[in-house]
Formats: sequence, structure tokens, C-alpha cells
Amino acid sequence: MCGIVGFIGTSNAKNIIIDGLKKLEYRGYDSSGIALFQNGGLKIKKTIGRIANLENAMLGGDYESPGGIGHTRWATHGAPSDVNAHPHSNMAGTIAVVHNGIIENYVELREWLTKEHGVIFLSETDTEVIAHLISLYYENDLVDAVYKAVAKMRGAYAIGAIAANEPDKIVAVRKDSPLVVGLGEDCNFIASDIPALLKYVRKVYLIENNETVILTKNDVKIFDKDRNEIKRDVFHVTWDAVEAEKDGYDHFMLKEIHEQPKCIEETLSRRLTADGKIVLDGISMTKEDIESFNKVCIVACGTAYHAGLVGKTVIEKFAKIPVEVDVASEFRYRDPFVDDKTLFIAISQSGETLDTLAALREAKRRGARVLSVVNVVGSSVSRESDDVFYTWAGPEIAVASTKAYTTQLVCMYLIALYMGLTKGSLDREEFDRVITELKAIPEKLKTLLTKEPVIADLAKTFYKTEQVFFIGRGVDVGVSYEGSLKLKEISYINSFAVAAGELKHGTIALIEQGTLVIALATQDALYEKMVSNVQEVKARGAVVIGFAKEGNQAIENQADKVFYIPECRDEISPLLSVVPLQMLAYYIAKLRGCDIDKPKNLAKSVTVE
Ligand code: F6R
Repeated sequence: MCGIVGFIGTSNAKNIIIDGLKKLEYRGYDSSGIALFQNGGLKIKKTIGRIANLENAMLGGDYESPGGIGHTRWATHGAPSDVNAHPHSNMAGTIAVVHNGIIENYVELREWLTKEHGVIFLSETDTEVIAHLISLYYENDLVDAVYKAVAKMRGAYAIGAIAANEPDKIVAVRKDSPLVVGLGEDCNFIASDIPALLKYVRKVYLIENNETVILTKNDVKIFDKDRNEIKRDVFHVTWDAVEAEKDGYDHFMLKEIHEQPKCIEETLSRRLTADGKIVLDGISMTKEDIESFNKVCIVACGTAYHAGLVGKTVIEKFAKIPVEVDVASEFRYRDPFVDDKTLFIAISQSGETLDTLAALREAKRRGARVLSVVNVVGSSVSRESDDVFYTWAGPEIAVASTKAYTTQLVCMYLIALYMGLTKGSLDREEFDRVITELKAIPEKLKTLLTKEPVIADLAKTFYKTEQVFFIGRGVDVGVSYEGSLKLKEISYINSFAVAAGELKHGTIALIEQGTLVIALATQDALYEKMVSNVQEVKARGAVVIGFAKEGNQAIENQADKVFYIPECRDEISPLLSVVPLQMLAYYIAKLRGCDIDKPKNLAKSVTVE
């Protein structure tokens, strides 16, 4: 997510802003930049990549300045590049802005500014329209121009703006994207998050929606959207920088688990229109294209592969096209049967996984149409695909993937539903029913997350175990794989997942007195069969934790403990059932004293074969 830092005061603004941006690195970014007041004008520098690149680009230059604004960008509109990096400026280079959020009507504003006002745009970003809008209304009063520009914009934003003609001032405004003000001695700050400021200040104002802030070195004033001044209590920060980055959570993994309702809402809301249609932004597949596919190949690694397994079930069910799912490292070496009638779907959080990228290139070479489901905008996988469908989960910092997985699932549901409805293999009523259930997931997840203490208690009972089996049927097989992977990667417990019906063909030999079995029994259609599988392992001495939907209580007669997830359709239950498994892995790993966010031997982005 983008990060904003602004400073106005007496010291060297450049170093203070760069320092603040570094404290926001944890939010994830792909480029950075800075705009400083200098000699009656503005000096702007921006570079793709790490903040160190920006520092190197400024080495030896004169950047002495009392104030300015800086930004770390997490690309949304337009790939990561020097030119798309913030700050953006007007054509004269006399007004500069940094922005966190999305301007929803930027296309129409861009067109209007180009046609009616002769504006020439340099970047592909939505942010650049803000700089030109402010410039359009600027008559030596930055505050007035910002108010007028904001009145034209729809969307979410935290904006910091400066004007060369008013070198004593920063103007900032917020709607639905975070913004804080730091109160210093003879200096003041803005930032999108408190950690950026903690080295310098402990006193902050928390800015609320639709508020505008005017900062000079000795004063901060806050105004509402009607330009009335507001009095705000000072908030005294008592936590340290590391705690602040994690929003008070002990680990990024737990923070990211809790972000899932919001992320799923975001992934969905960007694609669903008010009249109940799906808009696959970034995908240009026509009805004819969809009808021409005689098969779908889903290829990914690890957690993303597990999302692909659910994808297979729903694409086959709704779009009635045969689907193969493969791990990327195998796909490329097995002489896959892929041609121009194949839709190849690559799923990847980072978009940089080498195996996935190589499989994608192989599929393209064989003529397949390539669609990727990716989280990191502008990543290699997204750049090399014909169509990209972003998961919009925001930066995922913990190595163990959580919110990327659930948003990948949402994307798979949307793709399957869209293809089904377009092809005519899914009728409108059924489509509407699934969409209604998907929309209800964020609220159900919030309720489910309140049961965290129950999971933490289960972890206390079982954290010393050295072997765990996960079993399930239908889509619960994929969720079992995912639950098992989460547990093994962060707690180092030897865990293993198997389709429940396969137990009797071998794995059941390993079940003995006291073996822990986690049984996923969330599928109404397969519930009785799962209860029998639980019976089977119980008869051999296993201790069973069952996961079932509320109302399906028969499992209580067999399992030692049962955790209930909210009622939902069978196909979309993974969005709910995976979350207690993520939490269970987390709490078990915590009790075992493991390094949860950075498990041994693992990397967040696997760019080697
Ligand atoms: C597990 C995990 C990995 C990744 C895998 C693919 O928690 O994070 O299994 O899912 O390495 O990574 P991406 O999705 O970046 O291609």
C-alpha cells in the first residue's frame, strides 16, 4: 500500500522525509519519490525500486530544503516505473501531490482535463489528475484549490499537496485512506501511518474522513468539508515503531488474517456492479473467446496451487469446461497438452515465482491464452499475461500466505461465475444466489474471527503434538492441503493432508492411539461420508478436531472437539473454513516459540527453480 510522508520545519526536510518513508517500507512498495521546496520552485526526484535507489539518485545533488512531501508507491494504475512514481506535478512543475488510494472517476477527469483544458499527462496514474485539477483551480491559494479539486473527485484518498508559491505550507486531505499529523517543535508532519513519525514525535492528530489539514512549521489547522475549523484532541503515542507497523498485532500473519474480511470486500466490490453484474477489469475475454476454450489449465505453487484446486471445482461446475490443475514445477516438464484452445490461468501472490513464470511462458509458446490472478501489480507474471485479474489483497508481509489465498479464491469464483453466465451454462438465478452468498462472506468472517479465543484454546491443548493429519472431501480436500501447509511451514510440525476417502488405501496405517486428525466436514453433500471417516480414525485411537457448518451437529458424536463455521454454500465454504486453520497454525506456532513471520528455510518470493 502506498505511504505518504510530509514535513515542514527548519531542519533538512529531505533526510526526515526519506527516513519516514523507510519506516513505511513494511506496507510494501515498488517505487518512491520526493518533492522539496527549493529556490522558489519545487525539486522532484523519483525512482523505481527500493528507497536506496532514490537516495543514490540524489547523491551529490543539492536538496537542502525546509519542507516537502514524499511517497512510496504500491502500483495500482500503471506499472511500477520512474514516471508513474509519485509525487506527480502540474505541467509547470509548480504544484506537487502524493496520494494514497484510488480516484474512481479518474478516466473521465483525465479526458475532461485533456480535451477541455489541454492538459498533457505524463503518467498512467490516477494520481496525476489530482495535480492537474489543483493546478486548474490554483489562484495563489493552495487550500482553496485543494477544496475545489477534491469536490471533483470520487474514490478513496489521502493526499499531500504543495505549491511553489507557498513554500511555508503543506495541505493534506483525507477520505477513506489513512492520514495522521505529527506535532513537532518548530516543525510538523503528515504521514499515512504513525510509524513514519515515531522517531520525531509522540503527539499526533488522527485525521478523519473529509477533513483538510493545513500545516505550517508552527501551526496545524484542521477543517471539515464545509471549511469550518475543527478542534481535535492530541493523541499521545505510547507504542514503539515495530508494534505500530503491526497495528498492535504480535505478528504480520495475525494482522493479515484479520484483514481478510476487508480484503475480500475490496476484491469483490471492485468487480460487482450495482445491477448485479461482474466486471472483469483487466480481462478482455469475449463470449466467443470463452466458447472457444476446450479446457482450462490452472498452474501455481504452494498456497496459490491450493486456490487453484478450488478453482477447478467451481470452473467445472459453473462454466462446464474441463480443468487441469498442476504445480508449476511439474507442468513445464511434462510436455503438457496445451494449445490455442486452452485457457491457462496462472495464480501467484508475488507474480515473481520462477516456476509459475516459466510455466506461463511454456503455455504461451504453445499458443494458450494466458490469464493471471496476481496480487503484486506490475510483477513479471502480470506483465507477461494476456489478461490480469488482480487480487487487491494489499501487501502480504508474513511469509505464510493468508489473505492472498482467500482473495485468490474470490477471483476464482468470479472468473467461474462470469464464464458460466457468459457461456450460458449457468442460469441467472443460480448466478445471483452465489453472488449474494459471496457478498455475505466478509460479515460472516468477522463473526468467525471473534471466535479466535476458542482456536487459541485448541492450540494450547494440541501444540506439543508432533504429527497431524488433515482430511476432507470435495473442496475440503484443497482446504486440508492448505491447513496442513500452514501448520507445517510455521510450526515445523510434521503434518500431512489426504482426501478422506483415500485414507483406507494406505495412510490409515499411520493412525494410532493419540494421533491428531483434523477433519474438515463442511460439505453438506458429503457430510455423512465424512462422519464415517471420522469414525474410522477414531476406531484406531485418533484424537479428532472436526470443522463443520453450524447446524451440522452429528459430528459431535464422533469428534473430540468441533469448531463450527457459519452456514454457506458448499463451494464457497473454503473462504470461511480456512481461516480457523490459519489461526490454529498461528497459535500452535506461537506456543512453540517459532519465528512466525519468517519461518526457517522459506522466502516470500521464490525466484529460483
Ligand atoms: C505458503 C506460501 C507459498 C506460496 C508459493 C507461491 O504460505 O506462501 O506456498 O504460495 O511460494 O508463491 P506466489 O503466490 O507468490 O507465486
